This record gives sequence, structure tokens and C-alpha cells, in this order.
Amino acid sequence: MPLQHLTHFPRLELIGAPTPLEYLPRLSDHLGREIYIKRDDLTPMGLGGNKLRKLEFLAADALREGADTLVTAGAIQSNHVRQTAAVAARLGLHCVALLENPIGTTAENYLTNGNRLLLDLYNVQVEMCAALDAPDQQLADLAEKLEAQGFRPYVVPVGGSNALGSLGYVESALEIAHQCEDIIDLSSVVVASGSAGTHAGLAVGLEQLLPGTELIGVTVSRTVAQQEPKVAALRQAVAESLQVSATAPLTLWDDYFAPAYGMPNEAGNEAVKLLARLEGILLDPVYTGKAMAGLIDGISRKRFKDDGAILFVHTGGAPALFAYHPHV
Ligand SMILES: Cc1ncc(COP(=O)(O)O)c(C=O)c1O
Repeated sequence: MPLQHLTHFPRLELIGAPTPLEYLPRLSDHLGREIYIKRDDLTPMGLGGNKLRKLEFLAADALREGADTLVTAGAIQSNHVRQTAAVAARLGLHCVALLENPIGTTAENYLTNGNRLLLDLYNVQVEMCAALDAPDQQLADLAEKLEAQGFRPYVVPVGGSNALGSLGYVESALEIAHQCEDIIDLSSVVVASGSAGTHAGLAVGLEQLLPGTELIGVTVSRTVAQQEPKVAALRQAVAESLQVSATAPLTLWDDYFAPAYGMPNEAGNEAVKLLARLEGILLDPVYTGKAMAGLIDGISRKRFKDDGAILFVHTGGAPALFAYHPHV
């Protein structure tokens, strides 16, 4: 069996069953192309999203180490921090979050609503910083401080994106391959590429399981030149941990994240509205709206390898809609 080493890593059952893979009939009609969606927005804790897949592995590691506290970092409206907080609560662990305001906004909804509101419900200890410019070091410093206070902290990196967390997306690739088997012939898969663990894990898994399918990462914070080395390094680390090779070309599109990470744009907002109105599916303005804008534009500009079926990996994020109101 390919990817058999995946089963060697301790993993908590937080998700329980494969997320649905669905056909989107009205969007397909609208775009003149067969479009499917992988509903990783429907993972079953803390309003769902891609980070729960990573946390199945990371939280298992934290428990193995005897940690009593999960420490992580992100934007005030981080979906990752919200899902980490939910998992910490479920496991009876303390959660400490180092947050930044990457867009420098004073908008009330951004500062208090959406994901940030949920952090208070989960009783997270929030520490603010001016900027997460060296997050690994900042998290190590915070963990040291917590240790001195008597906690046993476990650092979950930004986005849960180390080799261990990214295994969650190898698992997602296994689900996708199984769900498509003999039924759907996928030409392309589209996913948002941020801290890169989702993209890297899918890249390793899909290269083994669906080698004829292209994977496109739509960047949400960086140019191709900045993002490519991050994805490549993480993919290599994931491949090594599973004793497989990963050499397929990486494809990244960076035309859809402007003006900056965390700042909505018109095409992304239009994509959010389109999916809501045609399919009743909620995207978000920071990640999946921009990735879907890439999918839509990619079809009209013939950027995909052929005219076959496209799978959009819905990584979650809808709680941020409330924080970005009224700008979406
Ligand atoms: C909704 C959503 N989609 C996509 C991503 C990007 O995933 P990754 O950080 O693994 O690249 C994130 C990360 O925070 C997210 O919250």
C-alpha cells in the first residue's frame, strides 16, 4: 500500500469519518466546467476547517509528551488558533495564543467578533504582539516563560505547518483518491497555500495516489518566489517522514492575494458571494474566497492543464466572515 508509513504516527481521532466530496452542479453550469468540492470546512470541531487534520497528529504528540498546555500563534482572526483552542478544550488542556493584527485595523468586528470571539468562549489566554516576524522564536520564548510558571507547554507552529501536522493532508489525499476512485477523473485540484502544510501534505499524497492530477496552490500571503521554497521544504520533510519521494513540479498562482494577507479583495469577495448564492456554501475572505477567485479566473484564462474536472479543497474559514463585516 502506498503511504503505509502514515499509520506509524500516533493520531487522535478528532474527525472520525472522511469529509464529504461533493459535485457542485450550479457552479459547474455557471463556469462550464465540472467542479467538485472537498468539504474540509465540515470537520466536526470548533466550526471546522483544515487545521483539525493537522491537530490530529500534533495534539497526539502533545499528549505523548505529557503537555498540559497548547501554545500557538496567528492573526487575531486566525482560524488555526480557533481550532487549536477547540482541541485544547476538548482534551482538557490550557491554551495560550500569541496574536498579531496583521492589517493594523481598529475595526470593532475584526478585533472582537468572528474567530476572536470564539477564543474567549474557549477560555484562551491571549497574548498580543506587535508582529509575528519570527514566530518560531517568539513561540519558543513564550513556551519558556510558561514553563517557568509551572506549565508543560507544547508548541503548535503557525498554521500547524510542520512535517508532523502536514501528515493530516496526506490523509486528506487518501480520502480524495478513495472518493474519486472509478467515479471521478480529476484533472486538477485547487487549494489555498498559506503556511503551506495543507499544500505540502496534499502534494505528497496526490503524487503517490493520483499522479496524473495537477495540484495548484493559490497563495494567500506571498509571491511564488517566496512561497515555493516553503512548500518545497515542507513537502520534502513530509516525504522523508513517510519514506516516499516527491519530485513533481510545484504549481503556485500568486495573482489573487493582493493587496496583502488578511486584506479582502474584490475578486475574492465576489467568489464568496457566488458560492453562497449558487451552492449555499460559505467561503471566507482571507483564504478560500481568494483561492476560489483563482479557480474561476484560471478557467477563463485557460490556466489549467486541460478541460477536465476540478476539485476545490474547501479549507474552512467562514467564521471570519463576521469579523470582516461589512467589508465582504
Ligand atoms: C480557511 C483556511 N484555508 C487555508 C489555510 C491555509 O492552509 P495552510 O496554512 O496549511 O497553507 C488556512 C490557514 O490558516 C485557513 O485558515
